[in-house]
Amino acid sequence: MSALLTKIKEAKEFIQNKSKIKPRIGIILGTGLGGLAEEIEDRDVIPYCNIPHFPISTAPGHKGNLILGRLSDKQIVAMQGRFHFYEGYSLDEITFPIRVMKFLGIKFLIESNAAGGMNPDFKIGDLMVITDHINLTGNNPLIGPNDEQLGPRFPDMSEPYNKRLIELIRKIALEEGIELHRGVYVGVTGPNFETRAEYKFLRLIGADAVGMSTVPEVIVAQHSNLRVLGITCISDECFPDTLKPVDFRKVIQGAKKAEPKMKKLVKRVIEKI
Ligand code: HPA
Repeated sequence: MSALLTKIKEAKEFIQNKSKIKPRIGIILGTGLGGLAEEIEDRDVIPYCNIPHFPISTAPGHKGNLILGRLSDKQIVAMQGRFHFYEGYSLDEITFPIRVMKFLGIKFLIESNAAGGMNPDFKIGDLMVITDHINLTGNNPLIGPNDEQLGPRFPDMSEPYNKRLIELIRKIALEEGIELHRGVYVGVTGPNFETRAEYKFLRLIGADAVGMSTVPEVIVAQHSNLRVLGITCISDECFPDTLKPVDFRKVIQGAKKAEPKMKKLVKRVIEKI
């Protein structure tokens, strides 16, 4: 057994000793979806710092708990707070919780995040379902020895975001009267926001929104054969010609605008999964 697999199993056993929930759906509560944590019923809250081999979250606005419970009558596991490359963790560390959730039994992963909108049709507070991504972190969580028990050496990436889930959330958004864009998310490392020239470049290569998370997690989710749904709230507008200085507090405010819509969509998606 690889060292990674041993660690995953230790974390999994610890969690299963603390909770009877058998989750089929994992959710990463990023900026803009944190409030969903309060709506999880019969919840068992496990601080990351207690779970063997879990990193500890340092990013402002991000809490650090694994929550097992019920949402829309389904058994789920949620990450309240995620880990970012810019905090100094390796991509292995950042994505370790995804591997643990897979071993807890999840088949579906719902990713949420806040990102800068580069598509001129997007406004602050809008939502976008991620149809594809570009990994511009200059790194990859799968570099290193591959454990075939966890996934293939060369995972396919032709459909990193599940088409059926994209169609499902679009249908729900239409029913609810919530505007939902579709688009490509480009993942960068941060922590600085981009220059005008970088936004121009990212738009040119086909991205609609840019953010500092999600991509490494989705690569590992694919390696783990999970079906992924990714939802982005547009927290700031990144139009090179009219760019204003962006500050982190404004980004959080922008994400908060989208939170009620995001919560509604995610709860309804879970109901239908
Ligand atoms: N750039 C990168 N990451 C982000 C941004 C941005 O403009 N907004 C929120 N996350």
